[in-house]
Amino acid sequence: MKYRTLGRDLTVSAVSLGCMGMTHAFGAPSDTKEMTKLIHEAVDLGYTMFDTAECYTGTLPDGSTAYNEELVGPALKPYRDKVIIATKCGVQHSPDGLLTDSSPETIRRSVEGSLKRLDTDHIDLYYQHRIDPKVEPETVAETMAQLIKEGKIRYWGISEVNEEYLRRAHAVCPVTAVQNRYSMMARWHEPLFAVLEELRIGYVAFSPLANGFLSAQYDETSKFEPGTDYRSRMPQFTAEGVRQNQKLLSFLEHTAQEKNATPAQISLAWMLAKHPNLVPIPGTRKSERLRENAAAAEIELTPEELAHIDCALNHMEMSAVFGGSKTVK
Ligand SMILES: NC(=O)c1ccc[n+]([C@@H]2O[C@H](COP(=O)([O-])OP(=O)(O)OC[C@H]3O[C@@H](n4cnc5c(N)ncnc54)[C@H](OP(=O)(O)O)[C@@H]3O)[C@@H](O)[C@H]2O)c1
Repeated sequence: MKYRTLGRDLTVSAVSLGCMGMTHAFGAPSDTKEMTKLIHEAVDLGYTMFDTAECYTGTLPDGSTAYNEELVGPALKPYRDKVIIATKCGVQHSPDGLLTDSSPETIRRSVEGSLKRLDTDHIDLYYQHRIDPKVEPETVAETMAQLIKEGKIRYWGISEVNEEYLRRAHAVCPVTAVQNRYSMMARWHEPLFAVLEELRIGYVAFSPLANGFLSAQYDETSKFEPGTDYRSRMPQFTAEGVRQNQKLLSFLEHTAQEKNATPAQISLAWMLAKHPNLVPIPGTRKSERLRENAAAAEIELTPEELAHIDCALNHMEMSAVFGGSKTVK
């Protein structure tokens, strides 16, 4: 595994682990023992950052709630001083979309809940999960600064942030990482790269495989559980989406063959080459994929190869890609 720096001095594995799908959005929650074993395997492979959120919940067969943090925190307890736990506040799921609340009182209540569920006395990286239009960035940054002073969190970040909001927040309390969507199918945040370099802020790329689509392991026959598996509603996985993405999938397969890699690895290696302080957090519940994704950090793309991929992507027909649930103000 290789390592990268987020912000001034937060060192994390170049490929880190998204844990959301273990309880949320990709079908019914997975077995806790199996996922704990997988997380331990990730530590052995050199993964050091583990991404969760207070709202990554699922429903168990008996109707009770499976909290992602209650899986991730206890699983990492034996390695607590060697790993970075990243979690998020300020969003709750509702039938209409995402409810945002980043008031100081809510953030404070959330941090206490996360510390309890994670069974730890500090959170390494704490994100505001979405911008809350009712709260100024300065107010959120002030709250985070106080939490850092109190030792409850070490670093903070913002998810799905834009330049203006980021600059205002960073001026009050330095931001260590943004966590925004990024993949070969979702490149709209690329203009932020220069701003991040200027401010020395890292980019944690979520949904780096376009929710798995860029692994080229799925086609129009793939079945996803309606309701619990969000892929059943994602445009890239529909029959029409798969058809529109044929060129992209062929290109990925061809490039992978040339580099003796897999399409998922090319997708990750491409973004690692795009920005020196970018860290993808692919999610998986399978050991072989955990290994495959980690090995992407070892694949080097030359500037010419990178330019060739970018040029191909710039001119390729693609379907729409899932862009997240609607935010309810
Ligand atoms: N900040 C935010 O708002 C936000 C939003 C979404 C996600 N996230 C974070 O980002 C992480 C990753 O995002 P994501 O899960 O949406 O998308 P992703 O990482 O692009 O894709 C995950 C999906 O791809 C499959 N997969 C992973 N590696 C694979 C491989 N090598 N070959 C074939 N399939 C593979 C996984 O299936 P299996 O599990 O079956 O292996 C899973 O269904 C999440 O876990 C979460 O921590 C943050």
